Amino acid sequence: MSDGSSFYITTPIFYVNDVPHIGHAYTEVAADVLARWHRQSGEDAWLLTGTDEHGQKILRTATANGVTPKEWADRLVETAWKPLLKTVDIRNDDFIRTTDVRHEVNAQKFLQHLYDSGHIYTGEYEGFYCVGCEEYKQPSDLIDGVGEYAGQQVCAIHSIPCELLHEKNYFFRMSTFADHLLALYEENPNFVQPASARNEVISFVKQGLSDLSISRSSFDWGIKVPWDDSHVVYVWFDALLNYITAAGYGHDDEKFSRLWPATHVVGKDILRFHAVIWPAMLLAAGIEVPRQVFGHGWLLVGGEKMSKSKLTGIAPNQITDTFGSDAFRYYFMRAISFGQDGSFSWEDLSARYQSELANGFGNLASRVIAMVVRYCDGEIPVAGDFSEADELIRGTEKRVTDAATLAIGHLAIHDAIAAMWELVDELNGYITAQEPWSLAKDPADRDRLEAVLVTAVRGLGTLAVLLSPVVPQATAKLWTALGGIGLVTDQRIDRAWEWTGGPRVSPLEALFPRIEATVG
Ligand code: MSP
Repeated sequence: MSDGSSFYITTPIFYVNDVPHIGHAYTEVAADVLARWHRQSGEDAWLLTGTDEHGQKILRTATANGVTPKEWADRLVETAWKPLLKTVDIRNDDFIRTTDVRHEVNAQKFLQHLYDSGHIYTGEYEGFYCVGCEEYKQPSDLIDGVGEYAGQQVCAIHSIPCELLHEKNYFFRMSTFADHLLALYEENPNFVQPASARNEVISFVKQGLSDLSISRSSFDWGIKVPWDDSHVVYVWFDALLNYITAAGYGHDDEKFSRLWPATHVVGKDILRFHAVIWPAMLLAAGIEVPRQVFGHGWLLVGGEKMSKSKLTGIAPNQITDTFGSDAFRYYFMRAISFGQDGSFSWEDLSARYQSELANGFGNLASRVIAMVVRYCDGEIPVAGDFSEADELIRGTEKRVTDAATLAIGHLAIHDAIAAMWELVDELNGYITAQEPWSLAKDPADRDRLEAVLVTAVRGLGTLAVLLSPVVPQATAKLWTALGGIGLVTDQRIDRAWEWTGGPRVSPLEALFPRIEATVG
C-alpha cells in the first residue's frame, strides 16, 4: 500500500555496556509509533535501530568481565538488546551493529573521502574526557561533585570526574561549518525540534565551533583509521555513520537514494552530536543533511535522568510482564509530552491502565460487541437513518483523525493520542445517552437500536485503525472481532473514519484484563 514516498526514521544506537532500561525502551517505542503511523499512511516507512559497540566504555566493561569486547557485545546484543524489541513490540526494518562488516567498511570509505578532500588533519589535544558520555567536556559542561567527589569537578550527566587525556589525534575541521550550520537552522526551522532543543543548539553553535578529535590511539577497540592503522575512529564519529551505512551508503546507491535523508529521534543528552557534529560531517562529505533531528526528554527518577550507572534503571519487562507491551507503549506515549522530561510512577501507570485502557477503551469495545451479539445475533446491522447524535460521532471520527494526523506531523505523539481519546470518551458518553439496552426492549425502536449499534461499531473501527501504531496487539484483536477485512495495519490511518463496518462481529476477550497482583 506504499505510495512510494519514503519515511526513514532512526533510533539512537545503544551502548552495549549494560542492559536496557525503560528510558531506552521509551526512545524505541516513540520511533516505532511514528514508523507504524507513516507505514499506515501509505509511505514507504523504514525503521532502523541497533547497537553502538566500539569505544572505551565497552572495552572496559568487557575487560572487567574477563571477555573480549566482541564477545561481550555479542552476548548483550543477543540476550538483552534484541529481546528488548520483542518486549516492547518494535517492528524495525533493520538492526545495525557497529561491528557489522557493512558498517565498518563503509564508515572507512566515508572517512577516507573526508581525508582525501582535506577535511582532516593531525593535531594534539588535551582535555577532560568522560568515558560515560564518550566525549571531551568543556569546563562549562562540568559541575561540582558531591559525596566522594566533593571538591572535584564532575560530568553533569554521570556525576563522576572526567579523565585528563593528552593525545596526538586526527581532527575533523568542524569549525569551518559553523556558519553553514547556522544558515541551515535558520532556513529550515524544523531541522531541530522541539523549539527548546533548536534554541539550545543555535546558541551553542553561535559561540563558535572547535575542530573535533576523531581518532584515538591509546586503545584499539574500534574501526581502524584507513590511512593509519595505529588509530581507531572516535566512537561517536563511528556511531553516527550507522545511519547511512545501514541505508546503503557506499554499497547500495539505489537504496541510499531511496531512503536518505532520515528523521532522527534522540534523547536530548545526545542532541548536539546529531544536530551539530552529524550534519557537519555530512556537509563535508557532500551528502544531504538529515530531514529532522528531534530531541526528546528524559525519564526522570528523583528529578534525575534514569540510568543504570546510578542504579535507577527499571527493566522494561518489569512493566510488560504485568501490564503487557501495549500498556507500556500507551502509557509512555500518552503520559509524557514528547520532547519534555517526565517521571514514571507505578501508581500513575496503574491508574491510567485501569481508567483509560481497561475502563475507557477496553470496556467500550467489549460492551458494543456484546450488544451486537445479544441484540443482532452478531450481525452488524445495515444502517438506516442516522440521528444528529449519530452524525456527531461520525464528525468526531473525522475530526480526530485529522487532528491526530496533524499532531504526528509535528511528532506530538501525546497530542495525537489525546485527540483519539476524545473519540473514546465521546463514544462512551454516546452509549450512555442512547441506552441501546432500553431501545432493545421495544421492537418499535429497532431502527434506532440498529443505527446506534452500527454507529458504535464504526467508531470502534476508526479507533482500531487510529490506535494501531500505539497499541498494536489490542487493535489487531479488536479489528478481527469487528469483522474487519485484512489486517488492521493495512488500513489507511489518514482515512481511518472511512471504514463502514464488516459483516459480523465475533467474541472479544478483555483487551486490558484486570490486574490483580500488587506491583512496584
Ligand atoms: N550510543 C549512543 C548513541 C549513538 S547514536 C549514533 C548512546 N547510547 S545510550 O545507550 O547511552 O543511549 C541511547 C538513547 O537512550 C539516548 O537517546 C538516550 O537519551 C536514551 N536514554 C537513556 N536514558 C534515558 C532516560 N532516562 N530517559 C529517556 N531516554 C534515555 O547515547
